[in-house]
Amino acid sequence: MFVVPYELFINIEQVMLDKLQNNKPAAFLSTLKTLKTEGFLLNNSIELSEKQRTNYEKIDFTDIEFFEENILANLEEYLFEGVGKIDFTKCEMSYKQVAFLNGVIRKTTPKTIVEIGLSAGGSSCVILNAIRDIENAKLYSFDYNTIWYREEGKNNARKTGFLVEQIVPELMGKWELHTGGVPCKYFNKYLPNEGVDVCFIDTAHRNPGEHLNILEILPFMKKNGIIILHDTAFHISSPIYTTNINLINSLKGKRIFLKTEKTMGLPNISAVVLDENIDDMLYCLFSNLSLPWDYKITKDDFVEMFKHFSKYYSKDLLQFYIYYCCFYMSNGFRNQKTAVKIAEEMTTRLFKNECEK
Ligand SMILES: C[S@@+](CC[C@H](N)C(=O)[O-])C[C@H]1O[C@@H](n2cnc3c(N)ncnc32)[C@H](O)[C@@H]1O
Repeated sequence: MFVVPYELFINIEQVMLDKLQNNKPAAFLSTLKTLKTEGFLLNNSIELSEKQRTNYEKIDFTDIEFFEENILANLEEYLFEGVGKIDFTKCEMSYKQVAFLNGVIRKTTPKTIVEIGLSAGGSSCVILNAIRDIENAKLYSFDYNTIWYREEGKNNARKTGFLVEQIVPELMGKWELHTGGVPCKYFNKYLPNEGVDVCFIDTAHRNPGEHLNILEILPFMKKNGIIILHDTAFHISSPIYTTNINLINSLKGKRIFLKTEKTMGLPNISAVVLDENIDDMLYCLFSNLSLPWDYKITKDDFVEMFKHFSKYYSKDLLQFYIYYCCFYMSNGFRNQKTAVKIAEEMTTRLFKNECEK
């Protein structure tokens, strides 16, 4: 655990923010003052209890897309436009990708499932339908946007996840939804201590996107838990969407493949039963933050994730986070000299002070 002294953090943030466009240092300082009142930056010692293990590494996932596929009939008329077709106002996955997701859930009979990125809630309906007869199983869904992102700014815009109540109202008791900002800010309060069995991630597909989502959820995964990523072939449609192929390839563990549908040669959904020792993947996952960013995160998101990561990761890893946030939030390659300077100044000063303590 690495604790950044509050005064130093403010000082360095001020230096960085003064140089950035569209940021209001005063607002940011008040955010940090709130953190101090909460005692966070000076005393952040929340520990996760020993994580439980799954037995998923022993399961045979061959032809998973056919496993108990019949139960999808419950949803067919509401969610799908037929094999191979997608209606983006319903589920944003093809029928075969849904069959893969359903198969993994049915095969593993998880107790705790996390979904990050749900849009109208099509994938949430699929997961809930798959756990309808699994006693005590629960889905926790998280989304950055409270308003359905496809209707953002429109009159009478619907809320993220609105399909669930329409399509599977009888399963609302197995569902918790948390929206608004980065998912990790809800994890400590709402996720069960024993850990997460299966996590399905389907968010931005652009950097930093899922590279941050995985770092958010990883400390909460059970040993040999499963990560499922959608849109692992999305980079074929545009080179900015490389996030998920890079991420899935950086995870270590037993791979689960969709074999019966390819999107320009690749499956567009993939899963990994995580190796027991996730520490071995952390360097790769954090260094993925160095890959060119396609959008900036907000200062509030930066702080929320900083709080979260500083609880669970070493200062060497945190250094990647600070460095590349500073670099890309300062306009990265378009402002290379200054961005490097800010990133190096921030990181050096932050860590130099830590060593001197
Ligand atoms: C592609 S849609 C999800 C589609 C849904 N899984 C389905 O199959 O029907 C992406 C969702 O991710 C959300 N999102 C984008 N970036 C996010 C982030 N960093 N954390 C959480 N949710 C995010 C968006 O608001 C949107 O609802």
